[in-house]
Amino acid sequence: MKVLIVYGSTTGNTAGIAEALGARMGNAGLDVTVLNAADATAEGLCNGYDAALFGCSAWGTDEVEMQDDFNTLFENFDAIGVDGKKAACFASGDSSFEHFCGAVDVIENRLSGLGAVIMEEGLKVEGDYDGSRDDVDGWCDRIIADLQA
Ligand SMILES: Cc1cc2nc3c(=O)[nH]c(=O)nc-3n(C[C@H](O)[C@H](O)[C@H](O)COP(=O)(O)O)c2cc1C
Repeated sequence: MKVLIVYGSTTGNTAGIAEALGARMGNAGLDVTVLNAADATAEGLCNGYDAALFGCSAWGTDEVEMQDDFNTLFENFDAIGVDGKKAACFASGDSSFEHFCGAVDVIENRLSGLGAVIMEEGLKVEGDYDGSRDDVDGWCDRIIADLQA
């Protein structure tokens, strides 16, 4: 089972969650690749993977603005080849903003439109991984169970 984790992160919070998810999945025996959106190309991104997780923080105020690197990838999201594949989204955010982890909902909707199978409701984390370890680890374990079902 090959899993791709792609994240966009400006201050490192979503990156830290992505690395924690990748490590936990690796320990569970999954073959995981963790990729910064800044180093990713949309064309055929999911080729060769059974499942993909997408992480992206939000930076808008009145409306959702995706993290810059992920936004570049998102402009050509049609080309990632996610049709029929298992997928899920996650993010770090700040609940004092109107759209807490708003990028999660935007990406999830787009993935559904592209034919992906959403495994779990998106993971929305307040702050960094260290402050929400139990939530992140629990979500990760549900994803692992979904992948191994
Ligand atoms: C101008 C600005 C706008 C933001 N907008 C949102 C938002 O809409 N929703 C949210 O949950 N967090 C918002 N945040 C908080 C960041 O997304 C949050 O700090 C997050 O942990 C950053 O994750 P990253 O380090 O992975 O980029 C905003 C922060 C700033 C400075």
